Amino acid sequence: MRPYVKVVALAPLLMVAEVAADLLQPRLMQTIVDTGIANRDMSVVARMGLLMLGLAFLGMLCGLLNTLLIVPMAQGFGADVRGALYRKVQSLSVRNLDSLGTGNLITRLTNDATQVQDALLSLLRICIRAPLTLLGSMVLAVLTCPSLAFILLAVMPVLAFVVFEFFKKSHPMFTRVQDRLDRLNSVTQENIAGVRVVKAFARADYEQSRFQDANRSLTSGTARAMQFTATVMPLMMLVIDAAVAAAIWFGGREVSYGTLKVGQVVAFTNYLQRTLMSLRMVAMVLVRLSRAGASGGRIAEVLNSEPDVQDAPRARTEFSPRGRVGFEHVTFRYKGAQDPALDSISFVAEPGQVLAILGATGSGKSTLVHLITRFYDAESGRVTLDGADVRDLLQTELRRHIGIALQESVLFSGTIRDNIRYGRPEASDGEVMAAARIAQAQGFIAALPDGYDTLLGQRGVNLSGGQKQRIAIARALLVRPAVLILDDSTSSVDVETEARIEKALREAMRSSTSIVIAQRISTVLNADKILVLDGGRLVAEGTHRRLIVESPLYREIYDSQLGDRPPIA
Ligand SMILES: Nc1ncnc2c1ncn2[C@@H]1O[C@H](COP(=O)(O)OP(=O)(O)O)[C@@H](O)[C@H]1O
Ligand SMILES: [Mg+2]
Repeated sequence: MRPYVKVVALAPLLMVAEVAADLLQPRLMQTIVDTGIANRDMSVVARMGLLMLGLAFLGMLCGLLNTLLIVPMAQGFGADVRGALYRKVQSLSVRNLDSLGTGNLITRLTNDATQVQDALLSLLRICIRAPLTLLGSMVLAVLTCPSLAFILLAVMPVLAFVVFEFFKKSHPMFTRVQDRLDRLNSVTQENIAGVRVVKAFARADYEQSRFQDANRSLTSGTARAMQFTATVMPLMMLVIDAAVAAAIWFGGREVSYGTLKVGQVVAFTNYLQRTLMSLRMVAMVLVRLSRAGASGGRIAEVLNSEPDVQDAPRARTEFSPRGRVGFEHVTFRYKGAQDPALDSISFVAEPGQVLAILGATGSGKSTLVHLITRFYDAESGRVTLDGADVRDLLQTELRRHIGIALQESVLFSGTIRDNIRYGRPEASDGEVMAAARIAQAQGFIAALPDGYDTLLGQRGVNLSGGQKQRIAIARALLVRPAVLILDDSTSSVDVETEARIEKALREAMRSSTSIVIAQRISTVLNADKILVLDGGRLVAEGTHRRLIVESPLYREIYDSQLGDRPPIA
């Protein structure tokens, strides 16, 4: 948190001055009535009137200055909260993020942070002012007319009770509102991300109604909470007005008996009003706070979540591996899953080798490579890089030596060049082009009007699936990784281009390790070692020549894809 020292010191002083100016007003009024008007002394009326005006102006000035000081502070606090949340989210593991959910995180980063920020603002505005006004006007009321103090005593508990009950009821209401907002955000996000599927399957009506449900439930929840808030304010005003009426009634009687002066009753009524109004102010801030409390809880939940992939206390920071990847009886289970996604996997991939992983969807191929990059940590067993347990390396250091093209190629908005050098922004144009050439992306990039400066994303061009995949491969290559991982990265590329990528990769990756996940058996034929996964277990391992003889599952996959072609050497 930033140092807000100056504001912290000055703002309360301004508030005290504002309250003092405000509390003097009824006193001056009393003098006007009892000294000025009663004696028909217009000079007193004029002097006191001017003083009142001056004080009102001073009070307003202090209030204004105070707000001017406080607004940037509350905004700064909001920015800090968002910053802290964002930093935290970056530090969380993939598993943490899986369970928090994206829609949810966005709500917390935006709406919840704003709620807390606004609550802080209103809290800062009145934190000193309301209690001080409450106390000051109460004391002054009693001092002005001790005989009328019983009215205050009667009304205060009633109002305090209303405020308390109100807070108790509104808090869960606002928590519900935030949860519903979450739901709406999740639904919206899914709809928009999946817009092609929605259109393709003509489910717009269904999605519309799903959205409507979430939207309506948010609307009704918010309306209920706000209606509740709305009923309580007039109720409080009624109590306050009744108290004022009582003050005038009992005060008037005392004036007629001659025990009180008119000015005293006027001043008392004023103080009474101020006392009760400041209570009302407290109630209003409590609304804000109860709403912000719900948001604050949700923010705290993120800030307090422990990243479940962490750097070891004495993690190695200097490391230049050759790229030997080892799995030793590695078992891994996703949270809440019964069966392990990987079951006691052991293998070794040597530098210079191409290791291919084959298996049906859901057999655990992606999970396996995600353990190398430490997106997840093994439940038991060890994953090693050049013999070192990946958990003993600094995450950033480990990942610096791994180039990965994920199964879903995610590109960012920006130029093609910036996308390719995302992992090594200092790479030269020559290096960018060399990587693109290996990934067989050079051709289509050169054909674009702006070439490497072509803008992708929101306001730029859209690439085909296969083109995106090739840019993702170039991006992985550019970091000059010791281990290159391609997770089904040529699935949308035609077979000939794929063969050319494979050939160029073999040249480029002669001294490092390549791990290639593929659906097509043609992709893996030339690999130095092929792993066949089935339901999280490693069922066969070897070269094509060996597996075609030894592994029934491999032969089955082979026959289903290439069976009618003459066998390849
Ligand atoms: N984030 C996740 N949370 C829970 N289960 C998952 C997650 N990702 C994958 N799985 C499950 O783990 C198994 C292996 O998935 P995956 O490694 O993606 O298979 P493949 O890449 O071979 O298609 C599947 O049963 C899948 O449903
Ligand atoms: Mg996969």
